[in-house]
Amino acid sequence: MGSEWDLMPSKIKQLNRSFSGSHCSQLKLGHFHHFLLFIVGLSLGIIFIYITSFWLLAINVPAPAFIKPLIPLLPDHRDLLERGHLLFPSRLQEWSRGTNDTIPDHHDSVPVSKEKVSLVHNMSDDELLRRAAMVQGQEFSDGSIVPKVAFMFLTYGPLHLSPVWEKFFIGHEGFYSVYWHARPSYNDAMPEDSVFYGTRIPSQEVKWGTSSMMDAERRLLANALLDPSNLRFILLSESCIPLFDFKTIYNYLVNTNLSLQASFDHPRKNARGRYNPQMAPTINVTNWRKGSQWFELRRDLAHQVIADQKYYPIFQEFCHPPCYVDEHYIPTLLNILQPSLNSNRTVTWVDWSRDGPHPRKFGWDDMTDEFLDKIRYGSNCTYSGKSTTMCFLFARKFLPSTLEQLLRILPVLLGLDP
Ligand SMILES: *[C@@H]1O[C@H](CO)[C@@H](O)[C@H](O)[C@H]1NC(C)=O
Ligand SMILES: *[C@@H]1O[C@H](CO)[C@@H](O)[C@H](O)[C@H]1NC(C)=O
Ligand SMILES: *[C@@H]1O[C@H](CO)[C@@H](O)[C@H](O)[C@H]1NC(C)=O
Ligand SMILES: *[C@@H]1O[C@H](CO)[C@@H](O)[C@H](O)[C@H]1NC(C)=O
Ligand SMILES: *[C@@H]1O[C@H](CO)[C@@H](O)[C@H](O)[C@H]1NC(C)=O
Ligand SMILES: *[C@@H]1O[C@H](CO)[C@@H](O)[C@H](O)[C@H]1NC(C)=O
Repeated sequence: MGSEWDLMPSKIKQLNRSFSGSHCSQLKLGHFHHFLLFIVGLSLGIIFIYITSFWLLAINVPAPAFIKPLIPLLPDHRDLLERGHLLFPSRLQEWSRGTNDTIPDHHDSVPVSKEKVSLVHNMSDDELLRRAAMVQGQEFSDGSIVPKVAFMFLTYGPLHLSPVWEKFFIGHEGFYSVYWHARPSYNDAMPEDSVFYGTRIPSQEVKWGTSSMMDAERRLLANALLDPSNLRFILLSESCIPLFDFKTIYNYLVNTNLSLQASFDHPRKNARGRYNPQMAPTINVTNWRKGSQWFELRRDLAHQVIADQKYYPIFQEFCHPPCYVDEHYIPTLLNILQPSLNSNRTVTWVDWSRDGPHPRKFGWDDMTDEFLDKIRYGSNCTYSGKSTTMCFLFARKFLPSTLEQLLRILPVLLGLDP
């Protein structure tokens, strides 16, 4: 049995020993007590092995040959296994209370469109925004179309952690779209079989701290809105990682009515202090909000962001460092237009515990299972009206040096086969 055997809990080893030998041979039918004890023990043993075998399957330890005939691998369990849920059984219960799985169990039994649409166009930003504003969203609720989540990557240059995302997306074609905005001079060499191949959108130079950052975000949104099957829109950077498997994240996003966009008001200098009274009367200080650049929007709100011609020009004119358009524009706009459709919290974790203009960056020596689990389950928030500890779906900022460690931890994170 070799190494597989070494992975087995010692209790099973003992049970196996009792199965394979001594008890049977010492059994004397004349001694009724012994026989009764044996029957009880045997039953308990079989039940124990039966239960344990599910657990073993869940952690992907191959069951030893003698167990196999006892296990009918129920479809339910295979499905859960596929989702990685059995890895964290207590989380599973907590999770299932708050959600409603809409991903069909067999991806290919639903009419999903897997073909890649070319993102090449030569529309100006104005044309693009106008065109995108005309695209109606599909009637998602009638089930005739599988809603997609648009993952929009805004990077300076390369996507260092792309191998993590490749593994994240694989097998879920038809349930997501990818859009990538990098600086125009960056020459992408993604191979044809990469999920990022052909996802670059026509881009322009972005300068940190200026409204060119927000222009890029609106450009991403507009490109993504051209596909009427995109229902949710999430902005990510090259330093972001997913914290759960695709299905879990998809369900979390698709099954809530609220955008998951941080938005708050605080009297301090770096929040309300950035409001410029010249923005009044269109935007007054009561409307003003701060939040995270890394937004998550439902389709109608994404639509309002790109269609807005009233508030954005005011931000462009009056919000300059230390006011950052990308930290205030969407939170403020949502607060003016549809405050009740925002959860006011972000799903992208970041560590601002050190003061300063930039959050903490994480390197390879920070990458432990404990660290990631704390991010995954270490907070309290509300989801669909219920409180949960599963508040973050993505995290930043992870340096390129974390890639190797991330790939090692990934099977646990995504519930994949090692
Ligand atoms: C899940 O959603 C479907 C369709 O929207 C609904 O019929 C079903 O009752 C929901 N299930 C739960 C557990 O909320
Ligand atoms: C770009 O614009 C020109 C003229 O406006 C047009 O002929 C051409 O087909 C366009 N190319 C693409 C890829 O849309
Ligand atoms: C700001 O505008 C809101 C409506 O958008 C209004 O209710 C509020 O009184 C205004 N506040 C100030 C200080 O002008
Ligand atoms: C988010 O904040 C706005 C005010 O900015 C509020 O109207 C709305 O109810 C809040 N959303 C939730 C889910 O509490
Ligand atoms: C979350 O809430 C639980 C129960 O109310 C509490 O025990 C725990 O300390 C809270 N965690 C955080 C990070 O606030
Ligand atoms: C979400 O929207 C649907 C339809 O508009 C509504 O029936 C449901 O109560 C909403 N759910 C939440 C959690 O607000």
